[in-house]
Amino acid sequence: MPEGPGAPFPGVIAHHRGPSRLHGHAPAFHEATVVRGEPASHYFRASGISALAEENGGLCTFWMGQRLALYQITNTPVAGEDALAPSTDANRELFGDFMGSMPHDHPDRPAKRAAVERSLGNGKFVEGLEPAIRRHTAAHLRRAAGQEIPLDDFTLSLTAYVDSMIPGVLDLSLRPLPEYLHSAEYGRVVRGFFDLASDVISNDNPQAMREFDVIVPFVRDLLTDNFESLAQAPASNMIRRYFALWERPFTRHSVATLDAAQIKELGTIIVATYDTTALSLMWALGYVESTPQVKAAITAEARGGGGNGRCPNSGSSLSVTDLAVLEAVRLGGSNPSSLWRRTTTPFTVHHRGAEVTVPPGTMVWLDRRQANRDPAVFPEPCRFAPANIKAIARSERETVSSLLSRGRYEINSFSMINAERNPRKCPGRLFSVRMQSLVLQELYGHYTVSAQDVDLQLKRHASMPRPARPGTITIHRDTGTPREPIR
Ligand code: HEM
Repeated sequence: MPEGPGAPFPGVIAHHRGPSRLHGHAPAFHEATVVRGEPASHYFRASGISALAEENGGLCTFWMGQRLALYQITNTPVAGEDALAPSTDANRELFGDFMGSMPHDHPDRPAKRAAVERSLGNGKFVEGLEPAIRRHTAAHLRRAAGQEIPLDDFTLSLTAYVDSMIPGVLDLSLRPLPEYLHSAEYGRVVRGFFDLASDVISNDNPQAMREFDVIVPFVRDLLTDNFESLAQAPASNMIRRYFALWERPFTRHSVATLDAAQIKELGTIIVATYDTTALSLMWALGYVESTPQVKAAITAEARGGGGNGRCPNSGSSLSVTDLAVLEAVRLGGSNPSSLWRRTTTPFTVHHRGAEVTVPPGTMVWLDRRQANRDPAVFPEPCRFAPANIKAIARSERETVSSLLSRGRYEINSFSMINAERNPRKCPGRLFSVRMQSLVLQELYGHYTVSAQDVDLQLKRHASMPRPARPGTITIHRDTGTPREPIR
């Protein structure tokens, strides 16, 4: 074991010294992730940190310069929320008053979370969106049919359009989001928003913050151009809920006088709604298109399995399509390969029958990409196989909602690290997964789909996990497929 001087918890938690005696892993990590653009998870594997953690119960420590780092390679809770700095502490400047930048006990956090969770985390509400999601997806697919489209553009435009149109979520129906994403003025910056944020966190690269204040005019224009559809939006609309939280009437004057922190907060919520789902859908399509048996099963289910896509007579409440979407979330991630949070107070780690006190200022890293491929949890950890999700189902009654509940840790794609009780677990996760399932059912139910030139290895110099080559997708409407009923 490469344990030596500087090991903080000798005999309890294994320690990896790293190549530099003075700076531990910091220079080599910077060289690998920032200069060469490798995902952080690759660095951990190549440096030997991952292997050391695997051999020692899932944990080890290393030094990142002068900072102590605790590295985890399994999905089990490691620290309590009360010992951790806010998740997006490192990019407060970018996210304004966003809930993720607030301490866990901030009095405003519960209401901010509820503004999203009461809609997108509510099973009944999400099921009620099904007809609208199907209708707007169908409309978008008809326009895309017959053209060869880059897969990333396809999923981004589709998701941003459907999110804009479904009533009671964003209600940006007068000038839907794709118009801004394709504009010269905002497109480049808005499309790279989460990549930038992730670069700051997952590559530990604070210099990444640049000219991103363009988010402010983008959000103000979006609200102004869509003022009428927002004014008439149902009560569940997330943007209107934020105005209510700020105790501001929804008027043109209010829109014009929101301060930068409020605008950035709203911008983060809006971008989170479409951007992560679009990325996740890109992985789902990439994997389905490269796995013929799964593609055949989804197509059969979408065409013959009835309106909700459940497997007929399977006895399970999870459809093949739901399983495939969750499996793509596990394998592709749709969030950075490794993330960390800083500890603010001492906390106790119980490890292999002993306990140690981790000091404040420690970086707690989770290698999410490798933890989501834990061979002790998933029978085929590196393959795209819906059987991996079946393996974590505890009964036939398991649902998407129960698999994604806060108390479940097998797949970490919706939390930054594994915090006890997961109070920050993504409030949009249920909506995102159900929406992707419905999109796949509309697509494979009515179209012949082909993808070309997709490379599902991780792209370099991209902090959000993107395929090395997204390739293109072409869809053709099947002759003989009945037109969708009017819903
Ligand atoms: C596949 C899609 C998605 C993925 C992979 C994802 C992932 C994540 C992750 C990793 C976090 C950080 C949790 C933490 O701090 O530990 C998060 C938080 C959050 N996500 Fe998502 N997300 C997705 C979709 C969405 C959608 C559709 C929304 C809609 C608004 C959303 C809104 C949020 C919000 C508001 C938070 C902050 C929660 C808090 O601080 O309490 N996400 N998400």
